[in-house]
Amino acid sequence: MKIIICKDYAEVSKKAASVVIKEIKKNPELKIGLATGSSPIGLYKNLIEAYQKNKISFKDVISYNLDEYIGIDRSHPQSYYSFMHENLFKHIDIKDDHIHIPDNDISRIDHLADDYNKVLHENQLDIQILGIGTNGHIGFNEPGTPLGNETFIVTLDEQTRMDNSRFFNNNLDEVPKFAITMGIKNIMYSKKILLIASGKEKAKVIHKMIKGKVSKSLPASILQLHPDCTIIIDENAASKLK
Ligand code: GLP
Repeated sequence: MKIIICKDYAEVSKKAASVVIKEIKKNPELKIGLATGSSPIGLYKNLIEAYQKNKISFKDVISYNLDEYIGIDRSHPQSYYSFMHENLFKHIDIKDDHIHIPDNDISRIDHLADDYNKVLHENQLDIQILGIGTNGHIGFNEPGTPLGNETFIVTLDEQTRMDNSRFFNNNLDEVPKFAITMGIKNIMYSKKILLIASGKEKAKVIHKMIKGKVSKSLPASILQLHPDCTIIIDENAASKLK
């Protein structure tokens, strides 16, 4: 694991964007795994700015999102489909048919995981962007998830639902109970991984992820075993490492 500690969230976002921009310049047909949550928003803002300044184009980039809620429609403002369009896709020149977000159509529930998994098998990602949940989840791989899992439908942790209730009018009842997520095995298959985190509330989990044992009780700890994984965090998130 390569660990980069930045002063604050703005610097984390800039640094992460510089890594992604370099990858796109090296390979304009980059296959990139994308994450949601508040952590990557700054990274996406920097990527939009680089696009607007003609530094990069996304016209040949292909994206694959980590996860999606089940039980809310894609048109719901808090679906990850909406999140990605609002925070990135509608501002850049990525082609619609280059965007992959796990389908959450409940009428096809028995096929959703297999369909997305097939896409991931056929397309090894060049880089995967990750955030981390306060309970150590990556994507929606909650504590206890077998580390060999591929795309599956998950019952969300109470902790995760509580953390994410801030996006649902602070009303736990509105937070979906289920999601579809890439499994740990899919995430580990990416050639490169870039995890970003900031803030004091992530300090404990960052410490455990880096210094603790690799264990399914903290899914992100598996990243210790990835051959090319970079962790970009701010001083607050790094505060328990020293
Ligand atoms: C969500 C997402 C994760 C994300 C995590 C952390 O539950 N499924 O992919 O990494 O939350 O979110 P945040 O960056 O808002 O702390």
